[in-house]
Amino acid sequence: MWDFSEEINRENSNSIKYDWRDKVFGRSDVIPMWVADMDFRTPPFVMNAISGRLKHEILGYSFRPESYFDALIGWIVSRHGWPVERDWVEFSPGVVPALNICTLAYTDHDSEIIIQPPVYTPFHGAAKDHNRRLLFNNLLETPDGWEMDFEGLKKMITPKTRMIIISNPHNPVGRVWRRDELEQLVDICFQDGIVILSDEIHSDLILPGNRHIPVASLSEKAASITVTCMAPSKTFNLAGLSTSSMIIPDAVLREKYRRVLEGLHLHLGNIFGNVASEAAYTHGHEWLNDLLLYIRGNIDTVISYCSEHIQVIRPVDPEATYMIWLDCRQMNMSGKDLHRFFIEKAGVGMNEGSLFGPGGEGFMRMNVACPRSVVEKALKQIDNAIKG
Ligand SMILES: Cc1ncc(COP(=O)(O)O)c(C=O)c1O
Repeated sequence: MWDFSEEINRENSNSIKYDWRDKVFGRSDVIPMWVADMDFRTPPFVMNAISGRLKHEILGYSFRPESYFDALIGWIVSRHGWPVERDWVEFSPGVVPALNICTLAYTDHDSEIIIQPPVYTPFHGAAKDHNRRLLFNNLLETPDGWEMDFEGLKKMITPKTRMIIISNPHNPVGRVWRRDELEQLVDICFQDGIVILSDEIHSDLILPGNRHIPVASLSEKAASITVTCMAPSKTFNLAGLSTSSMIIPDAVLREKYRRVLEGLHLHLGNIFGNVASEAAYTHGHEWLNDLLLYIRGNIDTVISYCSEHIQVIRPVDPEATYMIWLDCRQMNMSGKDLHRFFIEKAGVGMNEGSLFGPGGEGFMRMNVACPRSVVEKALKQIDNAIKG
């Protein structure tokens, strides 16, 4: 079993999560449970691969060798049962850059792009920052959890709708979309010629009992309209290496993507991202399985602590990711006041729900990719603040 319980000091390491606390929360001592990276060591088999490369003392231009693609393809087939072909794989220096590249590649100025809030904030920017029309197909909150609104989606599509961006699994509500849900989505989009941009960056962080389905793996029809983003960055804690993959089975969509990527000269990537990704995808299975059990334990800690001590906060039990969507609506505060309360009274820095768009007000997103001792400390601080 790998051990994830050690508290590692990340201060003064130019970590956004730690060293920007003052700037973002107005105090540098909040327990940082915001930015989506982990407080666990990047695994040793990744660090060793980077150290191995450092022994060669020239860091000139480099390319991704075939062994890199073999490792990626082997990982996807063994984790998700999707046989990806080598030619389908394109590079991106990050998933957020890829969302923006896709906007440029698949839409133009009078196009509409649909997203499903509450959802990861850069999805909003991928449309708005390029002056595309952003349409909200809000997720529905039902007694069985958060769901996609297919009827709403059908009604909002117009001849100008070109692309829908989905988070699969969904950040922040933690849903792993089921096969029948994804099939409905594909049917609707195929009929109207809409590209599905499926951000699957969290697809390796599937909690026990759930199964990730890559949209493009559903059928030839799905593959013909889907562009998939995958990355080792969340899974193995290497977001600082800016390396991710785009899987695009359709030759026309692939060529459009490549034209923008190469037009911006972003296709080369960096030596350490290449080396680290290959090592992670080659050696990462056992480490990841243990990590997922540890994260599940952290989530269980939050759920049972809240049900015993902080009933006004109701955590939404996630099916994936290390983020918990905390329903704080019974605290009867505006989003702004909630945010201030958690910072000033509890000393815990989280993301405030309305940042994710409609439906997010009254929620907070808590990142529990940290040692359990830190989760327990944060819960006690929140409990004391509420009781106080
Ligand atoms: C859904 C989603 N997509 C993309 C990213 C970030 O991707 P990258 O760091 O590769 O740009 C995140 C990070 O939190 C995320 O949650």
